[in-house]
Amino acid sequence: MTVTNKIIENTIKPHGGELINRQVDQSEKETYIAEAKSLPSITLNPWSLSDLELIAIGGFSPLTGFMNKADYTSVVENVHLSNGLVWSIPITLPVTEDKANQLEIGSRVALYGEDAHLYGVLDLEEKYTYDKEKEAELVYGTTDVDHPGVKKVYEKGNVYLAGPIHLLDRPKHDEFVDYHLDPAETRQLFADLEWKTVVGFQTRNPVHRAHEYIQKAALESVDGLLLNPLVGETKSDDIPASVRMESYEVILKNYYPENRTRLVIYPAAMRYAGPREAILHATVRKNYGCTHFIVGRDHAGVGDYYGTYEAQELISKYEDELGIQILKFEHAFYCKACENMATAKTCPHDATSHLHLSGTKVREKLRNGEPLPKEFSRPEVAAVLIKGLQEK
Ligand code: ADX
Repeated sequence: MTVTNKIIENTIKPHGGELINRQVDQSEKETYIAEAKSLPSITLNPWSLSDLELIAIGGFSPLTGFMNKADYTSVVENVHLSNGLVWSIPITLPVTEDKANQLEIGSRVALYGEDAHLYGVLDLEEKYTYDKEKEAELVYGTTDVDHPGVKKVYEKGNVYLAGPIHLLDRPKHDEFVDYHLDPAETRQLFADLEWKTVVGFQTRNPVHRAHEYIQKAALESVDGLLLNPLVGETKSDDIPASVRMESYEVILKNYYPENRTRLVIYPAAMRYAGPREAILHATVRKNYGCTHFIVGRDHAGVGDYYGTYEAQELISKYEDELGIQILKFEHAFYCKACENMATAKTCPHDATSHLHLSGTKVREKLRNGEPLPKEFSRPEVAAVLIKGLQEK
């Protein structure tokens, strides 16, 4: 994407007021790399690496590093950082007790990826233990280890490291290079496009007809749509991001106005934390420059852990503080009598006319080799998904 230099005006302020940038300048990079060779080191898993990247590029503004105990406790217990700013999900760096014992507070720690590449440096200010059950219960609403997010909490090391970070190198997103923009760049892009209002759409699924319906309903009243699929770690039965990206390209090309939509990746890991994650998703999209954010049915949910509208109810409590406008949509379905997408708000027919669709249903049909009806998925999308999953 080409980005020119129009003055950014009328844009929404980042969370906390300032877009954070923790990427080390090229001029300082060699010094950091040389220093890192003699530093103690830890290896980040893909989840932590994506958190490191999002902190560094400002997606998690106002965070400048991994959370200390005061912020962690305040977020888990009160959905706010210790400075009073609303924040819903702990952003933490777990290590084992053995590893933590080797690290000294006040020193620096080199941060490597599982590919043995040096990605960053942490100024270690604090290390602390935490209560996994409490984190699971308060953040995920359950201590059930079958919940994919809770499972991760129980698998993590017992100590969190805290402190500001410095990013030396970006994790590669080679597959998505055309769609890789940072918050500063999307903000500039919206200014260039002269979009004053932009709705952000989070998804970890291919776009199905219900998604399309709510996105287009939103587009009726804002200037632009940022389709912002999550491409970090997801659970193994979710459709791989590389297949999904192709499906987004074909649906945008065939069914959306080019001058009113943009596709940009969101390089985060999926937590499946439902209501709490909906707040995080909205906060991050505010940092990317969106003025509006869509929360539909069971946002960021998994299984039956959350009620259909629990995410909408929780985010409503914090909407004023968040400062991004939340567009809430009811469960959308295809109505055979209306011959259209609809919700209970717009359709007078009973359930016998309704075809309910969800990412889970789309995945189920694909797994069973069943065709995707056009009421579920655009045929171009279905073709990409079938081909993509066969190849995988
Ligand atoms: S997730 O990231 O929130 O887990 P998903 O792809 O399932 O991704 O949903 C993306 C967005 O569309 C969420 O805001 C979700 O609430 C909404 N959504 C999904 N299916 C429907 C539906 N049938 N009706 C209304 N909203 C929906």
